[in-house]
Amino acid sequence: MSKLLVTGGAGFIGSNFIHYWLAEHPDDEICNLDILTYAGNKTSLVDIKEDPRYTFIEGDIRNPDVVNDLIKDADTIIHFAAESHVDRSILGPEAFIETNIKGTYVLLEAAREHGVHLHHVSTDEVFGALELNSKEKFTESTPYDPSSPYSASKASSDHLVRAYHETFGLPISITNCSNNFGPYQHPEKFVSRMITNLIDGDNVKIYGDGKYVRDWLYVRDHCAAIDLILQQSKVGETYLVGGMTKDVNNLEVAKMLLDYMELGEDRIEFVTDRPGHDRRYAVDWSKLNKDLGWEPEHSFKDWLHETVDWYKANEAWWRPLKEEAESTYKKTGQ
Ligand code: NAD
Ligand code: DAU
Repeated sequence: MSKLLVTGGAGFIGSNFIHYWLAEHPDDEICNLDILTYAGNKTSLVDIKEDPRYTFIEGDIRNPDVVNDLIKDADTIIHFAAESHVDRSILGPEAFIETNIKGTYVLLEAAREHGVHLHHVSTDEVFGALELNSKEKFTESTPYDPSSPYSASKASSDHLVRAYHETFGLPISITNCSNNFGPYQHPEKFVSRMITNLIDGDNVKIYGDGKYVRDWLYVRDHCAAIDLILQQSKVGETYLVGGMTKDVNNLEVAKMLLDYMELGEDRIEFVTDRPGHDRRYAVDWSKLNKDLGWEPEHSFKDWLHETVDWYKANEAWWRPLKEEAESTYKKTGQ
């Protein structure tokens, strides 16, 4: 039996990970430390509220007393907690510096003191942008070149995690994954925003010319990748996790959704572009495939359809978040 300390487990990927883990590892226990920002949502975990294997602690990863107390009982930390939205980092970078850099530092210090393995969940955005229409993909050796306050803060946290491994011998692992989508994603993000806008009779909002490319990864595939790495990888490794085998731009994703939801292309609306908008991300996940045999379970299209169905069936989950999500876009004109 293992005891996991999950940070940010009330967020999108963290809550999917907790569901995934308890189903796949029924003898394990999970403590979820989450401060419940606008992105944290206890209703995502309401079904396991009474599960004796699960504990929720409302608290801040920047608080060393809280963190030290919880780490004492943990075998592994899975660190999801972060400010995660690029547009919000443009409106106000400070929270990103605080949580993503300082919070990670506090966790590293506590992990070092107690000799606990820390798995750091990071992003492909640390590598900056690739050229449109090129064949190039990010690999584990691509140099860091972040563009936004969000990605710069995640890059800093990655460097800190590696430095604690090199300098203090802390057992760590890192995943840099691409754009996740799936159930329980806050309706501020591209796919979840488009689906909920369309359900509400609103348009999909496309930044700039829409010819921006992301590498879409279904959240459950991401959870399975972290599981494999925790079970089988050597300590100190970094793995890239992505989903797509060919480029699909934002406009094409919007059209796939409209097609599945039987709506016309007149529902596409072009809006102000994001400053510093990275043109293209593409992830080469062959190291993870070669070392541990990981690959995405289904096609992007299948997962996208499943995600539309989930949002249609779970309006009670996203409805209370929708107004707050759109208030950010009132400030950016998007
Ligand atoms: P999210 O914004 O949905 O959730 C973040 C969670 O962290 C929330 O529950 C929030 O309350 C919690 N949190 C924030 N500050 C905290 C603090 N100081 N102390 C404790 N808890 C705090 O994020 P997500 O999309 O689930 O992303 C999870 C992780 O994965 C992040 O580190 C993000 O950078 C990384 N990531 C996300 C994606 C993606 O596509 N969503 C892709 C690559 C990497
Ligand atoms: O690549 C991994 C990253 O993916 C994660 O590290 C971040 O936490 C996560 O938020 C995500 O960042 P992006 O900025 O790529 O995701 P977002 O959903 O905000 O936007 C995806 C693309 O869609 C991007 O090109 C901007 C565009 N977009 C976004 C929104 C919300 C639109 O065109 N319209 C929209 O309404």
